[in-house]
Order: sequence, then structure tokens, then C-alpha cells
Amino acid sequence: MRKYHGIIAVLAVLVSFIGFESCTPAHGDHPGSEYMPDMGHSIAYEANVINEYYYNTWEDESKKQSGKTLRELSLHNKPVKGTIPRGYAGVVNSRGADRLAKMKMLAGETTNNAISIPVNGSVPYYIPNTEEGRTYAYTAPELVNNPYPITEDGLKRGKELYVIYCGICHGEKGDGNGFLVDEANLNAKYPSQPTDYLTDELTNSQNGKYYHTIMYGKGVMGGYADKLSYEERWQVIHYIRALQAKNKKLAYNQYENTLNNWAVPFVDTDGAIDLDNSKLAASFDKVMADTKESISSFTLNNVFFDTGNASLKAESKLELNTLAAILAKYETAKIEVAGHTDSDGDDEANMALSEARANSVKAYLMAKGIAANRLQAVGYGETQPVATNIVESGKAKNRRTEFSVLSK
Ligand code: HEC
Repeated sequence: MRKYHGIIAVLAVLVSFIGFESCTPAHGDHPGSEYMPDMGHSIAYEANVINEYYYNTWEDESKKQSGKTLRELSLHNKPVKGTIPRGYAGVVNSRGADRLAKMKMLAGETTNNAISIPVNGSVPYYIPNTEEGRTYAYTAPELVNNPYPITEDGLKRGKELYVIYCGICHGEKGDGNGFLVDEANLNAKYPSQPTDYLTDELTNSQNGKYYHTIMYGKGVMGGYADKLSYEERWQVIHYIRALQAKNKKLAYNQYENTLNNWAVPFVDTDGAIDLDNSKLAASFDKVMADTKESISSFTLNNVFFDTGNASLKAESKLELNTLAAILAKYETAKIEVAGHTDSDGDDEANMALSEARANSVKAYLMAKGIAANRLQAVGYGETQPVATNIVESGKAKNRRTEFSVLSK
């Protein structure tokens, strides 16, 4: 028996040693220890979670050391300040003002650029990749309208992406003759003819056909859902529309869309997004509904001319198109188009300029199908200021085009 005493003593010492050692909180250089810890705590490495072992082990100690509770410590961490989202390394590569502009764009601080990135980077798409899903998507009401306005920057970005991802097969012009399909070059021959976007069928197809095909591909064409962000997909579609419009000699740009009438939000020059100039239309509706014979005038805030002459700038078209649409709706309404200038320069010259400008607006509306006898163009020169001509901001207000309802 005696010879076992030694062994028992050693075991006793060992057991008590393990007992001591098995559960110790972290301190100093010591990470702490626990007996069979994996029974009590997940040993999985979890992304974005602080999982220094002892933080999750010793509630009181962790609070003392980190100043946070276990719950707080197990929440997701924010990315390190200055982290660039995957795919936007371009920001890092640009310098100076360009970089600043891009950062602002990413943060959604600019209104004239449609490429702002949703914070979570993706938007769910629930239409399945089945024949049924495809048939549905191609005419799906929720895919009719492009959610982004047509902007110059957006089309530029859409073009870049299109050339990289689609043009190689569908052709830079959209005619289905990308360089991979080059008939003359057998090595470059692609096994299947890509779709020609310029046909009537494709031009008249709804945006759903494009969006769904970008998500999943079709036939031998693979999907591009992982290459293009939500917004980029829609910018590529805008660009394809612009190619189709060019082919039909129609307009598809930030000022005008004569290709299709699927509503696209546009960016007003004052920075506000107004779906279809509805503010102007709504106030006109009010005047027309008013039974009193009040004469009301409206200022067209977005009608611009080249300096010193009467030619309309392209960005005036949006508001004038709205006005033309309103006048088409109220078939009997007659309006006066009034041109006004600031006080700079000669009185008579101002009178002539304002009249010429009112006539430009009239001519534009006539070209949109409004009868000449419903439009009276008058120039008031500098005689009817609405603000002081002493300061530049006042002058800008005085240089304006107004219209008023002469009769309903
Ligand atoms: C590698 C070549 C290739 C590339 C790149 C490619 N496509 Fe295609 N695409 C095709 C082919 C081939 C078809 C015809 C598929 C079929 O009808 O079976 C097609 C068809 C289509 C269709 C018509 C779908 C239909 O129902 O008729 C659309 C829309 C389309 N592609 C959009 C795109 C867009 C947008 C991109 C760029 C993001 C793109 N494709 C990139 C080869 C390509």
C-alpha cells in the first residue's frame, strides 16, 4: 500500500494544481485559463466580433479592461475610418480635388451625379432565375422605370461599364457585333450571336428585360450581378437606351427623353429632384380649377439663354416640355410669355433682347405642337424688376421668363 501513497500524493498535488490553474482570469501577460472552455464558449472565429478570448470569458474583468459589457463587445464593429468599399479602389488612385469629388459622390453629397452607392451596396432581387421568372421580369411593373435620373456623369459611367462588360459581345454601338463576335477573325469568333439592341423589338422592350438579363445572363451569356452594383446596372441600362436613341435619331439625355415615356426622375437645376416638374403642373392645375377670373403668372426658373442673345440653352427644354404638356392638357388656355432683363446695358437693347427671348420660348412651344394663337410673346426689358438691381443676386432674379394665363 505504501508505495501508492507517493503516487496519491503526487496526484493530489496535480489535481489541486489543475484546480487552481483551470479557472483564472486574465491578468498581465497571462491570457487566463479555463477547464474545458469549448463547452462554455463558442470557439468559432466570428467576423467583426471582438473575440479575444478573455473578453468573452470574464464578465467583470472584461468590463474593467475594455470599459464595455460583453454584449457591447459582441456587436459588429464599424469599419476602420477611411475604409474603401470593395470595388471602389478608384477613389484611392485619384488625387486632390478629383479624389475629394469622388468621396463626396460616394457619400451621396452631390445631386448631379447618379452614382451614389447605397450604404449596404446591394438591393434584393427576388425574381427567380427560371423561365417563369424571366417571363414575369420582362414586363414586371416594378422594373419599368429606371430609378436613377439620366445624368451626364451617369451616362459616362454607364458607357465605361458597358464597354468593359457588354460591348465586347453586344458591340460598342449595341448592334451585336462586339469584337469577340468578329466574323472576319475566326479566332475571335463567339459561339452564339449576341442580341442586337438596335432592333425595334429590343428598343421597345421594357427595362426588366435588361435588368433580369444582367442579373442572370441568358443562354451562353453569363450573369453580371456580381460585377455591377445595383446602381451600375441601371446606369448601363441608361447607356444602352442612349445608344438606341442615337440609332433612331432621338434624344435620351439629362434634358430630354424622346425615346420612351417611362418616367425617369430628373435633377432640377436648383438641385431638387422633381419627378416630372409636378410642382409647376400642380400650380397650373390650381389656377385652371380656380373659378375666379384671376390672372396668374408663373416664373420659369429653369429657362436659360446664351449670354447676350436669345438662343435657348439645352437645359431649358425640361421645363418648357412640361409647359407644352400642360398647354396640351388645357386645350383652350392662352398664355402670355414674358421676357425680363436686369438693368445692365441699354434700355432699348434690353427691351429688344427680352422680346427676342420671349419669342424663342414661343417658337419652342410651337415646335412642340402648341398653336401660335394661344401664345403671346412680350418683352418687358428692365421695366418690371422683382428685386434690386444693385446686387448680383437681385439681377439674377430679374433676368427671368414668366408666363401668365390670359384666358382659360
Ligand atoms: C460574352 C458575350 C456577352 C457579353 C459580355 C454580354 N452578353 Fe448579353 N447576350 C449575349 C448572347 C450570346 C445573348 C443571346 C442569348 C440568347 O438569346 O440565348 C445575349 C443576350 C442579351 C440580352 C437579350 C435577352 C433576351 O431576352 O433577348 C440582353 C438584354 C443582354 N444580353 C444584355 C447584356 C448586358 C447588359 C451585358 C453587359 C452587362 C451583356 N449582355 C454582356 C452575349 C453576351
